[in-house]
Amino acid sequence: MSNNEHFGSKIGAIAALAGSAIGLGNIWKFPYLTGENGGAAFILIYIACICFIGIPIMLAEFSIGRRGGKDVYGTFKKLAPNTKWSAFSIITVCTSAVILSYYGTIAGWTMHYMCISFTDAFQNATPASVEQLFTEFTSNPYHPVVWQILFMIVTAAVIIGGVKNGIERSSKVMMPILFIILIILCFRSLTINEHSIDGLAFLFKPNLEVVSAKTFMAAMGQAFFSLSVGMGVIMTYGAYVKKNENIHQMAYQVVLSDTIVAILAGIAILPATFAFGMAPNAGPGLVFLTLPQVFAQMPLGQLWSFIFFLLLILAALTSSISLLEVTVAYFINELKMKRVTATIITTIIISIVGVFTTIAFGPLKDTTLFGMNIFDIMDFTASNILLPLGGILICYFAGWVLGKDSLRDEITNGNKLKITLFGFYFFIMRYVAPVVVLLLMLNGLGIFN
Ligand code: PFF
Repeated sequence: MSNNEHFGSKIGAIAALAGSAIGLGNIWKFPYLTGENGGAAFILIYIACICFIGIPIMLAEFSIGRRGGKDVYGTFKKLAPNTKWSAFSIITVCTSAVILSYYGTIAGWTMHYMCISFTDAFQNATPASVEQLFTEFTSNPYHPVVWQILFMIVTAAVIIGGVKNGIERSSKVMMPILFIILIILCFRSLTINEHSIDGLAFLFKPNLEVVSAKTFMAAMGQAFFSLSVGMGVIMTYGAYVKKNENIHQMAYQVVLSDTIVAILAGIAILPATFAFGMAPNAGPGLVFLTLPQVFAQMPLGQLWSFIFFLLLILAALTSSISLLEVTVAYFINELKMKRVTATIITTIIISIVGVFTTIAFGPLKDTTLFGMNIFDIMDFTASNILLPLGGILICYFAGWVLGKDSLRDEITNGNKLKITLFGFYFFIMRYVAPVVVLLLMLNGLGIFN
């Protein structure tokens, strides 16, 4: 059962946690959000969100998870018996289904793009031809669905392998490959021509004029999404971390690697975009519409394209397994299912939801709410409502229910470690994060307008 399972080594645990954090959020989403929100100004606000909100919430979630040592439901039942806190697991199961459904859509597109990299699909690409390729593929009622289901099957296969042999082992292989590929792509992007440097300037020179309430909301939503906090993933993985590990240090390592990868992804994508005179604000289509044109103009473009989409798949996979594990752990512990059965059932349910998200670009493209299609609704609801809401509840629980002594005991491994900033984190968890996150969330939803 999952509450008896543990990561075998510290490095394996970090690979799995960083694997969850580093994903499509870093490579697909962060560069286009930066492109849409004015470059460096967005990055600065994002980093502030990471430092002052992200790290404390990650620590809170990590501590709760390791202290409870079970799936989300079991953990709350153990730490706050006879309360309604275990109902939080319902939010986590819903959030993981929502995120995985559209995660699978993008990952499926990525698999398709990797496969067509070696055909002549991107050759002589023009804005009109890549647009046509993209629209034809994504609006097809079957093809993207097949890819999405294939991606879910691969995710399920890793989860069936269990915590040590599935999650940990695969992350330990995939994460180093991901880093290497990313560094190579950064070099390539920076050395295309003299305009590459404009992309760097865009990334690192803040333009504060474009900052608005929406920028803060986008940065905060992205911080939650990118760090995988607010929905029980860190809690579930925290339960697999051994009692003698330093979770404070691990949290920093995860946050740091996640932020470095996001910035590296920006360096791999935006200078290349500028080098070929393309606009950085293509939105979610940036990697599917802009990059194929960039690859088409590069020597050995097919190879670079293949490598890039492979990178994206690896990143997606280490995150999707963490999303699936939250629900699988719940089924194993609370419904007493075998891991295989739990995985198959959850994968089928989530894939069915995912089909609707995928065909939101085809047969269901006219089904909209507030001007958003099903895909946009899923993304918006997860990043801007469910994750921040989960974050508020986690901070509230750590600050007011679990309390200072238990929290300190968990973070310091029973007073064996010295954590200088503990008082600061606790203050943020208790008073600052719940209020700030709530205000940003309501502001972003337009409540104050
Ligand atoms: N952190 C992942 C990314 O940046 O792509 C996405 C994610 C995984 C979000 C797990 C939330 C989560 F619980």
